[in-house]
Amino acid sequence: MERPAVGELTPPDRTLMGPGPSDVHPRVRRAMTTPLVGHLDPAFVDLMDEVQELLRYAFRTDNEWTIPVSGTGSAAMEAAIGNLTEPGDTVLVPANGYFGGRMASMVERAGGEVVEVDAPWGEPLDIADVRAAFDSHDPDLLAFVHGETSTGVLQPDVPELTELAHDNDALVIVDAVTTLGGVELRVDDWDIDVAYSAAQKCLSAPPGTSPLTLNARAMRKIEDRDTDVRSWYLDLTELTDYWGDERAYHHTAPITNVYALREALRLAAEEGIEARWERHERVASALRAGIETMGLGIASESWLPSLNTVALPSGVDDGAVIEGLLDGDDIEVAGGLGDLSGDVLRVGCMGHSARPANVLELLAALGDVLEDEGIDADAGLAAARRKL
Ligand SMILES: Cc1ncc(COP(=O)(O)O)c(C=O)c1O
Repeated sequence: MERPAVGELTPPDRTLMGPGPSDVHPRVRRAMTTPLVGHLDPAFVDLMDEVQELLRYAFRTDNEWTIPVSGTGSAAMEAAIGNLTEPGDTVLVPANGYFGGRMASMVERAGGEVVEVDAPWGEPLDIADVRAAFDSHDPDLLAFVHGETSTGVLQPDVPELTELAHDNDALVIVDAVTTLGGVELRVDDWDIDVAYSAAQKCLSAPPGTSPLTLNARAMRKIEDRDTDVRSWYLDLTELTDYWGDERAYHHTAPITNVYALREALRLAAEEGIEARWERHERVASALRAGIETMGLGIASESWLPSLNTVALPSGVDDGAVIEGLLDGDDIEVAGGLGDLSGDVLRVGCMGHSARPANVLELLAALGDVLEDEGIDADAGLAAARRKL
């Protein structure tokens, strides 16, 4: 076999305004070039404590069990669902977006019974439907997505949903992949039992470590299981010795990703988590004002600032717009998924990407790409500037 003639790594310099990953802050990139230490080195053990403390701050929780899972958001999702679901448990999951479907698949693999709570794609769950599902199915768990990245829908009424679940002796799992660090999320005040996220969205670290937090109620359910968790790697009882006082070997932590997450969380703490939520809302409001003034709509009913679904004029090929932005301006956005496929662009406004310059650059580029549709980019830019 011939030696592969692979050249030096020269990735294009993109502006990441899609559903994730988002732009990485230069300080996070620098953190990733610092020397490796062993994953049980006393220096790394101290760093693990710091990451846990920073994660608690971002999640707004005092939960002892707050860790970065090694893996992407789906690993944290599977850790949450796989540990909390025992064979035979009934689990309510949402059917109003792509990631609710992934939850359902994970519940089935864990041996649980799935009950779907439906709403049209582009709308949040209605609490009356969730209540009706509780009355009919008496579930053990309620899982839902706080920010549905496939539809740009923010699920409102989180405290009401957790109260409903607890009144019915069920626990609550919240997917905060597209909200942690960008949209108001209060794990303790809202009485969420388990929440998980990912590094590459509003925290703006590279994918590979995924925040997870569990309260004492959730940990008790795991400790009281009659059967082993089906995944060895994600079994939280196996991880206790690694993240608990012992710091004994379980698996080799992705050191460089943990460095990156630590720096990203440090940036969030420096900014202040509430100021960060406010920045996302302000910058995304400017994007929204620009989009709407240009005659394009935001397709979701309950707006998620970190992910905006932009309705395209009928007849416009979403693939051509996405390609035009990437080839012409080095800007990444994405198309719709599932029921919204072909109808929308998904534009992220997350973490280090949620900056005025990015929004203005995107609006101008979108105006160029949609020039033939009579889109007035100047008016859109002016509307956006007024909000910034
Ligand atoms: C809401 C939501 N949940 C879960 C995931 C899965 O995360 P990952 O792709 O990092 O595995 C994503 C990814 O985009 C997401 O947006």
